[in-house]
Amino acid sequence: MTRTLITGGLVITAADEVHADVLIEHGRVVALAAPGSQPWTADRVIDASQKYVIPGGVDAHTHMELPFGGTFASDTFETGTRAAAWGGTTTIVDFAVQSRGESLRAGLDAWHEKADGKCAIDYAFHMIMSDVNESTLKEMPKLIQHGVSSFKLFMAYPGVFYSDDGQILRAMQKAGDTGGLIMMHAENGIAIDVLVEQALARGETDPRYHGEVRKALLEAEATHRAIQLARVAGSPLYVVHVSAEEAVAEIAAARDKGLPVFGETCPQYLFLSTDNLAEPDFEGAKYVCSTPLRPKEHQAALWRGLRTNDLQVVSTDHCPFCFVGQKELGRGDFSKIPNGLPGVENRMDLLHQAVVDGHISRRRWIEIACATPARMFGLYPQKGTIAPGADADVVIYDPHATQTLSAETHHMNVDYSAYEGKTVTGRVETVLSRGEVVIDRHTYVGHAGHGTYVPRSTCHYLN
Ligand code: URP
Ligand code: ZN
Ligand code: ZN
Repeated sequence: MTRTLITGGLVITAADEVHADVLIEHGRVVALAAPGSQPWTADRVIDASQKYVIPGGVDAHTHMELPFGGTFASDTFETGTRAAAWGGTTTIVDFAVQSRGESLRAGLDAWHEKADGKCAIDYAFHMIMSDVNESTLKEMPKLIQHGVSSFKLFMAYPGVFYSDDGQILRAMQKAGDTGGLIMMHAENGIAIDVLVEQALARGETDPRYHGEVRKALLEAEATHRAIQLARVAGSPLYVVHVSAEEAVAEIAAARDKGLPVFGETCPQYLFLSTDNLAEPDFEGAKYVCSTPLRPKEHQAALWRGLRTNDLQVVSTDHCPFCFVGQKELGRGDFSKIPNGLPGVENRMDLLHQAVVDGHISRRRWIEIACATPARMFGLYPQKGTIAPGADADVVIYDPHATQTLSAETHHMNVDYSAYEGKTVTGRVETVLSRGEVVIDRHTYVGHAGHGTYVPRSTCHYLN
């Protein structure tokens, strides 16, 4: 099947909404034209009347098979990318991990080993630096040349992923000099560990204390510090999983100064809250992630940030752990609950619900979920848009269908849904990845190994 025609849909990109037919050849979009205006023939014709035709989602923050807290995130690259396809996401950027004492290259090789030949959709990598030293700093430009142009550092998790301010400054200087982008987990982990110890000593072991000790002020303080370090180093900064209103304010203030500072939030911070962390019978463990869920009052600042472009990207931070056997590791001690939530399958639908609810426009939906993540991480215009020359990663989206999110029906390899019972308007109908249909009218027809590794260029927002 080399020639596909999608007819009669409303094509939505970050820039435009236009009724158009879309012609696809050899895995790429070749042309758009007014409906019925061209005598195009094709091997396959997809009728998209009454539907949206949107670029496949780009989820720039996933953790398939991440080792964490003595266990591993429960989605493999095979199961996680299949679930992503079900949810209208056609590219993920996952985090390869450098283990302490190992090289960045060894970490990257290990992640290729996990992912290559297994994925249902295309994939790329960021690099988590757990050990900033002379040798790993030297490796950074080499990784950029190999298409891994972003590096995540942690101000949290002392003894595991944590970097001190000196290490952070050095990595930022190297990134600033070589075109890399530093991604920051901005929480003051040293202070948090003191509060964890004190909470446990008081017998506060329930999951809800995870939210209480990981204070919004400690997210804001770390965000502020990361911004100042990036200014000193002359490097851009992308703050991941922003959840606190006070952290959004720090990013907005930096952007008002014209600094190259960017912010990402995630659906869990937009739709869930500390009410979920406080669910009884240890159910709150399902919602333990870091940064933590915040009181509902923070959500307005996140939505506003997305509208004003103080926040530019919504990724999932998909990092699933089963309730049974994994989240349960923290019964009696919330600090032992593996951190992370499932969501790779739900992001496009939840953000469409945000359109329905009036939080964002249709084009902003595509901008924050497809186009900007592709631009931010050097994948645009191959990914993130529908335009001649782009990969034919295309979703036929039914904006009128309703669905109820549930672990009974989702495809992620995890025994609960963070959005169990939530009814949303809008549903993915058909998904093409590089011109191949992977979801055909609600049936998975893709296969492991279809997805290929996509080397990335550098961030498009830096000269
Ligand atoms: O709780 C989270 N976010 N788990 C994944 C690791 C990270 O910090 O992104
Ligand atoms: Zn993080
Ligand atoms: Zn993450």
